[in-house]
Amino acid sequence: MRVAIIGAGVIGLSTAQSIYEHYHSAIHPLTIEVYADRFTPLTTSDGAAGFWQPYLYDDGKVEETKWNKETFDYLLNFIKSPESVKMGIFLQSGYNVCSEPVPDPSFKDIVLGFRELTEREMQMFPGYKHGWFNTALMVEGKSYLPWLMDWLEERGVKFHHRKIESFKDVKAGADVIINCTGVRSGELQPDPELKPGRGQIIKVDAPWLKHWIITHNIDIGVYNSPYIIPGSRLVTVGGVFQLGNWSEKNNSSDHKNIWEAACRLEPSLKHAKIVDDWSGLRPYRSKVRLERESVQCGPSKVEVIHNYGHGGFGLTIHRGCAEEAARLFGQIVEEKKTLKARL
Ligand SMILES: Cc1cc2nc3c(=O)[nH]c(=O)nc-3n(C[C@H](O)[C@H](O)[C@H](O)COP(=O)(O)OP(=O)(O)OC[C@H]3O[C@@H](n4cnc5c(N)ncnc54)[C@H](O)[C@@H]3O)c2cc1C
Ligand SMILES: *[C@@H]1O[C@H](CO)[C@@H](O)[C@H](O)[C@H]1NC(C)=O
Ligand SMILES: *[C@@H]1O[C@H](CO)[C@@H](O)[C@H](O)[C@H]1NC(C)=O
Ligand SMILES: *[C@@H]1O[C@H](CO)[C@@H](O)[C@H](O)[C@H]1NC(C)=O
Ligand SMILES: *[C@@H]1O[C@H](CO)[C@@H](O)[C@H](O)[C@H]1NC(C)=O
Repeated sequence: MRVAIIGAGVIGLSTAQSIYEHYHSAIHPLTIEVYADRFTPLTTSDGAAGFWQPYLYDDGKVEETKWNKETFDYLLNFIKSPESVKMGIFLQSGYNVCSEPVPDPSFKDIVLGFRELTEREMQMFPGYKHGWFNTALMVEGKSYLPWLMDWLEERGVKFHHRKIESFKDVKAGADVIINCTGVRSGELQPDPELKPGRGQIIKVDAPWLKHWIITHNIDIGVYNSPYIIPGSRLVTVGGVFQLGNWSEKNNSSDHKNIWEAACRLEPSLKHAKIVDDWSGLRPYRSKVRLERESVQCGPSKVEVIHNYGHGGFGLTIHRGCAEEAARLFGQIVEEKKTLKARL
């Protein structure tokens, strides 16, 4: 059995890991190969803050809430392990504050210690009317991706640095192709539902900030209002969400707007040293695409599993999606076995 995974962001690498974990002892030989034109530290998953939090509401997409929870619980299990430092995982608490009173978020029972803010706490956030406090997790791509790559490499997974132009590029000998190409998934076979949600963030040196602060303004939409997320070394300050914009360049007026809004929220930022700017593209879609498809490839058919479109929450949901992709892979294996038995 030969599996070709396209994409080496958090989605591709974690899918490779789940497939290995579930099937390496059952299938001989099982060859897993990862193809990508960008590897760590150059993927979107590396640039992301790595904060575990989905959108406030799942809008009925209960599967996504389940995958988010699986990811949270999976990461939480590592917290006490010495591996957690190498993985870039740690617990971190903070505030969600809203410009209007809104219902509790879908993730309230996933995170730890979720509660409403007290009046005294609200006084720290003038202009905001409502908020919550909870403990969540950080999973920083700049550590987690190298950890995943080492883990896979030790188990014989091969990496190929190459741009895939068509299915045929990987078909040769592959029994299953797994599509984890993020925002550029639409290049090989257009998906009008997939769009870039351009983001820009500023990394600053402000070690006195210990809590994350995420603001929510229903009128301007998710990630367009300020957020501050302390990481292991630097603090991430955002943000923007520009749907349809493919530019990965920094923009000076975005920088200025982000900075001014964040300094109004957290005036001590004025004393922070700005270290870096980064722009990236969230693979925005109305929902994650995680399903099978039989694709005609020349004279034969190839089984494809799609796993893309994780928007602004790819690190938050990755493990649940990887496990689901591995389950779909298992279905294909069973079908191939039945087919062989019949021949
Ligand atoms: C500013 C910003 C902040 C964010 N912060 C967070 C956060 O705090 N928490 C969170 O959970 N999420 C966050 N996100 C979202 C998160 O970054 C994405 O959801 C996640 O990185 C998507 O992972 P991926 O593996 O699908 O894509 P990527 O990391 O983009 O990886 C895609 C892979 O596919 C490869 N590829 C694509 N096309 C081809 C091709 N044709 N041939 C070969 N290889 C190809 C690429 O080379 C790459 O290896 C943020 C995003 C942005 C932009
Ligand atoms: C991944 O999915 C996208 C969207 O449907 C498609 O354009 C692309 O061809 C797929 N890639 C592979 C290798 O299946
Ligand atoms: C964005 O700015 C940072 C720091 O100023 C720089 O390192 C990075 O290369 C810039 N990105 C682009 C695409 O110009
Ligand atoms: C920044 O973005 C604005 C609006 O999208 C655009 O008009 C402007 O030219 C950009 N500036 C740079 C330096 O790219
Ligand atoms: C997209 O973003 C870039 C960088 O900020 C900017 O220069 C450009 O004007 C934007 N394009 C659109 C169509 O808004």
